Amino acid sequence: MLNRPKSRLNNLLMTSHKPTRRSSAWLDSPDLYGWLRRAALKSEGFSKQLSENRPIIGICNTWSELTHCNIHLRDLAESVKQGVESAGGLPLEFPVMSLGEYNMVPTAMMYRNLLSMEVEESILANPLDGVVLLAGCDKTTPALLMGATSANIPAILVTGGPQLKSVWRGEELGTCTDCRRYQQELRSGNITNQDWEDLQNVIINSPGHCGVMGTASTMAAIGEALGIALPGNTSIPAAHPERHTLARKSGETIIDMVNHNIYPRKILTENSFINAIRVIHAIGGSTNAIVHLIAIAGRAGINLPLSIFDKLSKTTPLLVNLKPSGKYLMEDFHKVGGLQAVLSQLNPILNSNVENISGKTLDETVSDVAVEKNDVIHNLNNPISMEGGLAVLHGSLAPNGAIIKQTAASPNLLNHQGRAVVFENHEDMENRIDDPRLDVCPKDILVMRNSGPIGGPGMPEWGLIPIPKKLAKSGVKDMVRISDARISGTAFGTVVVHVTPESAIGGPIAAVQNGDLISIDVSERKLDILVSHSEIKRRLKESKYSVQTPNRGYQWLYSRHILQADKGCDFDFLIPDYEN
Ligand code: FES
Repeated sequence: MLNRPKSRLNNLLMTSHKPTRRSSAWLDSPDLYGWLRRAALKSEGFSKQLSENRPIIGICNTWSELTHCNIHLRDLAESVKQGVESAGGLPLEFPVMSLGEYNMVPTAMMYRNLLSMEVEESILANPLDGVVLLAGCDKTTPALLMGATSANIPAILVTGGPQLKSVWRGEELGTCTDCRRYQQELRSGNITNQDWEDLQNVIINSPGHCGVMGTASTMAAIGEALGIALPGNTSIPAAHPERHTLARKSGETIIDMVNHNIYPRKILTENSFINAIRVIHAIGGSTNAIVHLIAIAGRAGINLPLSIFDKLSKTTPLLVNLKPSGKYLMEDFHKVGGLQAVLSQLNPILNSNVENISGKTLDETVSDVAVEKNDVIHNLNNPISMEGGLAVLHGSLAPNGAIIKQTAASPNLLNHQGRAVVFENHEDMENRIDDPRLDVCPKDILVMRNSGPIGGPGMPEWGLIPIPKKLAKSGVKDMVRISDARISGTAFGTVVVHVTPESAIGGPIAAVQNGDLISIDVSERKLDILVSHSEIKRRLKESKYSVQTPNRGYQWLYSRHILQADKGCDFDFLIPDYEN
C-alpha cells in the first residue's frame, strides 16, 4: 500500500469549515476572498448553481487551432457540460496548453511535462471537486493523465476520438502510416509530385486524431485499459454522434466519482498498469506508449522497469490487426467492438478484479461483451502472433535498453548483422542520406545519434531514418535503423529507438564508427556493437559529445531535470516521494 503525500488539498481542508467538499475550502471561506469567489461566480451567471451547493467540475481542455486533432474539443466540452449539469454539478471549462504533433518544434514531446505541470497546478490552485480531461493528439493525453494523477482529485479522461478513414484512388488510408508509405513511394519515383499534392488534399477528412494504432490511439486505449476512461472511449470516431453521448456520460460519471471519492491513484494501481502493458502489446501499440506509461505510473508512485514490458510481451499475443502493424484502421476497430472486445479476449490473462471509475471490476465490465469472429480483432486462440507488438533490447549498444516494434518490422531483419553507417545528428542525416556518394548498401545498419531527450533536445520522432534514395530507387523498402530518438506511433519498419543511455550523455551509441559491425537479435532481445568493451571506453573518452545548455526559461529547466527514456522522460523533481 502506497503512502499518500500531504497535498495542498489536505492542508486546505484541514482549515476548512466544511471539509467534505474540496470547493467549499474556497467558497465557504469566511474571509473576503470566500465572498469574492462567490461574487465572481455569480457574475458568470451561476447564482442558482451556487445556491444549490453543486460540486464544481473543471473541464480541462486542450482545444487549439494549432492542434488539428483537438479542433472539435470545444464542441465536445459542451456535451460534457450537459452531462455534469444533468447530474447536479457546475461545469467550469478551462484551457490549458495544447501540444500539436505536427506544429511544435523541436517536438511536442519536449512540452509534455510542461503541460502536465500546468494541469496539476491548475487543478490544485482552483476550487474544483473533480475534473474531466479533454485530450486527443499524441502528447496531450499522457500530459493530462500525469498532471491529474499528481493532483489526485476525481478525474475522468475523454479523448477526442480518431479521424474517419480517407479514400484516395479507391484505397482506404489513415494518417499518418499511409503518408509515410506514400512519401517513400515519392522518394522511389513511383508517384509524382502532383499525386503527392492530391493526396495531401484528402488525407485528413474529419476532426480527430490519427486513424491508425499510433500514439494517440494507443494512449486512448491505455486510458480505457487503466479504467480512467469510459468503455468505448478508445475508438468511437471523432465525427460520430456516439462521441457526444460518451462525453455526456463522462460528465455524469464524474459527479458519481466525486460523490464516492474515486480519485486517480485509487484506480491507477500496479495491477491496472500491468493490464495496460498487456493491452499495448495486444493492440500493436506505439513505442511512445512505453515512455508515457512509465511517466504516468511514476506520478502514482509506481516504478515500471523496462523488464516488465518485455516479460509481458512474451506472454501477450498480438490480437489487433491495425496499421501500422497490420492492415485495418481505427474505424474498422470500432465497428467490431473496439477496446472492450480486446479486453474481453484478454480477460483470462489480465488482472480482472481491478476497478474502474464506475466502481466496477474489469471482469464485470467486459463479461457481457460479445465478439464475433473477424479479421480486425483476433481471439486469444487465434492470435496474429504469439508475442506482443513491442520488444525491449539490451546489449553493449543499449545497456539500459532500446525498443523495437517487432510487429511493424521486416521479419528477415529481426536477426541481422550489418555495417554501421553513422550520422552525427538529424541535420547530418538530412544532408547526406540522399547523397549518391553515401557509402551504403541494403544490408548496412543506419545509426543516428544526438537525438535523445537531451541531445535532440526533446527526443524528437526522427527514428524513421529514410531509406537512402539510391537504395529506395532500386526497390529497397526497409533497413535496420537505430537511434536514441523516438519514432511516430504511426510509423513502420525495422526501427530501433530509445537507445539508452543516449549519446549526449555518453551512451555507447556515441562511440559507434562507420564500418563497425552491429548485431540485432530480437528473439534473444540483444543489440550489440561488435567492438571490444575497452575500445568503446577509449572512444567515449576521446569523443567530443557535448550538449548545448540553454541559459534561461523552460529549456533551461528541461535540460537540467529531464530523465532518460527508460525512466519515462519525466522531470526528476516531479517524481513523488510518497514515503515522506
Ligand atoms: Fe495528432 Fe497524429 S497528429 S494524433
